[in-house]
Parts: sequence; C-alpha cells; structure tokens
Amino acid sequence: MEERLTVGRVAELAGVTVRTLHHYDEIGLLRPSMRSAAGYRAYSAEDVERLREVLAYRRLGFGLREIADLVDDPATDTVARLRRLRGLLLEQRDRAAAMVTAIDRELEARAMGIRTTPEEQLKVFGAQLYDAIGSAYPATRRTEPRIAARIWDALGDARTVLNVGAGTGSYEPRDRDVTAVEPSAVMRALRPADAAPCVAATAESLPFEDQSFDAAMAISTVHHWPDPVAGLREMRRVARRVVVLTYDADGTGWRQRFWLTRDYLPEFADLLVGWPSLADLTRAVGGRAEPVLIPWDCADGFFEAYWRRPEAYLDEHVRRAVSVWTRVGPQAEQRAVSRLHEDVSAGRWAERNRDLVTLDAAELGLRLLVG
Ligand SMILES: C[S@@+](CC[C@H](N)C(=O)[O-])C[C@H]1O[C@@H](n2cnc3c(N)ncnc32)[C@H](O)[C@@H]1O
Repeated sequence: MEERLTVGRVAELAGVTVRTLHHYDEIGLLRPSMRSAAGYRAYSAEDVERLREVLAYRRLGFGLREIADLVDDPATDTVARLRRLRGLLLEQRDRAAAMVTAIDRELEARAMGIRTTPEEQLKVFGAQLYDAIGSAYPATRRTEPRIAARIWDALGDARTVLNVGAGTGSYEPRDRDVTAVEPSAVMRALRPADAAPCVAATAESLPFEDQSFDAAMAISTVHHWPDPVAGLREMRRVARRVVVLTYDADGTGWRQRFWLTRDYLPEFADLLVGWPSLADLTRAVGGRAEPVLIPWDCADGFFEAYWRRPEAYLDEHVRRAVSVWTRVGPQAEQRAVSRLHEDVSAGRWAERNRDLVTLDAAELGLRLLVG
C-alpha cells in the first residue's frame, strides 16, 4: 500500500503549522491527494515532493502565486525543477556571502570612524557576488600568457568569439571579433576602455540566435553559474565551437591535490557539493577535457595560482580577488590564514611540501574543455 502521511505528521516533519497546510489546500497550491478512512487529509509521496518545492520557494522569498506557476510548469520535469531550485538556492548563498563581505567592510570602516553613505548601505541588497568583490579583482587577476596560449589555440580559426562570464576580459583574444557577456555591473565597469563590447546577461540565457558565433569561451566562471550544464548547452546553441576552462571536482582526489584545501581550508568541499562531474560538463560541451598545468609563477592570481608561493595567501589583496575566500566565510578564512601563517613562519609548510620546490608547473585539477 502506498505510504500516506497525516496533515499533522507532514506539518511536524516540514516545520510548518497545520494551518499553513490547510491554507495551501484551500488555495489549490497543495491538495493532499488522499483521504484517510475517517475522511482526513492524507499526503502521498508525490504530495510531499511538491510540498518540498513549495517550501523551498517560500524560503527563497517567492509569493504563493508565483510558486504555483513554478511548481505547475508543464514544460519541466522533477529533475529540471530541482536543478532550477538548486540554482536559485546557490545564488542566494552567494548573495548572502556578498552581504557578509559588505557588512564586514562597513564594520571595518566604522571601527576607523568612517561612515558609509546611505547609497553604499543599500547597494548590499542588490549585490551579486561579483558586485561585492569585483573591485578587488584587478589587483591580482590578469592574463597568464601560457594559459592564454592554450585557450587561443583551442579557439582554432574562429573569427567571431563570444566570451561568457567575461569579467575584465583577461583571456579575450585581441586578434578576433569578440563579444563579451558579463552579469555583474561592477565587473563590466572594470573592463578596459578598449575591451570588446560587453552585454549584461547570464550564461543560462544568452541573448543570441542559434549558431551566431564561430566559438564561445568561458574562463574560470562556470563554477559561478547557478546551472552550469544549462549554461554550457546555451554556449553550444549559439556557437559552433566551445572552449571552457574549468575545474575537475570529481571524487575526493582534489582534496589531496592541493595543500591549501587539504591542510588549511577543508571548507572548500562545501563549495563543491552538487557540482557536476567533469564527464557531465564535458558531455554538455560535446568534446574532450585536457589538463592545464599551472606554472609556478602564474601571473593570474586565481585560487590555485600560488601553489609554490604560500606567503601570497597571507596577503589580503590576493584573497579578496578570489571568490573562494568570500564564499567559505570569514571564520574559515581567518582560521586557514592564521594556521598557514604559523606554519610558514615555523618552516613547517616548507618541510611538508618540500617536493613542490622542484616543480615548474603543477596539476591541480584545471581542465580545458574543447567541443
Ligand atoms: C572568476 S571571474 C572570471 C572572469 C574572466 N572570465 C577571467 O578569466 O578573468 C567569474 C565571472 O563569472 C561571472 N558570472 C557569475 N555568474 C554568471 C552567470 N550565471 N553567467 C555568466 N557569468 C557569470 C562573474 O560575474 C565573474 O565576472
């Protein structure tokens, strides 16, 4: 017999009142599809699945009418709806991280007797992650020529190129006709005056016709997209060739690969939860994945860039230009940095990682997907 739950049990499990469930029933948002022998409401497994979605959208701040449209959307199945929900929740998490950063900044300013303007205070609420951290980006983020050469090779003879999640345009090839896509207003404003034209949009919904570019590229950005697979499919739709620089987060191998996450910042694992496998990403691109080694003196200060220069991570400017540090939160960051500081000063880091000094380049999970 199919399992059914009483209204009281469902309310208890979901942490809502019975009144709320009655209300959802009355407005047709969630009608329990079964009745007990005595005629009371009873919820089936499908009803519970629907309730879970309704409550998640409530938590995201959606109104009941909007929720009804979302959960009744005939164009999507459960998996697609869960993916959409997941994307929205990740976005909310990143927005919360951006707000924490902005509040920390205000606290610091107040401690120094500086008052933030009302405009600055309100900006926090509309902020995307990169609107909050973007201004710190140019300090250490720039083109790494050896990685750029790999990307440009992979673009082949493409003449028109779309750069998705373009940021300040570090890897935009100068000798092609480039169009950039970048959702953060702060990042768009940081693009050099002579950079390619930039459209405000997201990867998941590219405002271009099918096959309108020879190639589309996305560099160090896919991990920020609420729905990476949907974004990569969009790139495939608008371009004949797709080139993506991303990260292989499969299994637990990444834990051991990089001393920073292994010994100091295990919270990095939280950022990878639900991240698609490399195989899924490669399939969405419809091509192959090639390892990209990181030179020891990498010019672009991304998270793994300083694998042979641990002191760099003690520098606030280095960390502020990498979203990982904001996303793990200030507590994890402070703990990791002070432990690293102690280990570097005491010679423990050098002792533990003595094999690294002989390497010119390291395999830390960077992958170039070409399709
Ligand atoms: C680490 S930066 C990389 C920028 C640039 N590609 C580079 O290599 O320097 C990540 C960028 O992805 C952008 N981004 C975030 N969510 C996005 C989305 N859904 N679609 C497209 N870009 C997104 C951010 O605003 C940010 O500029």
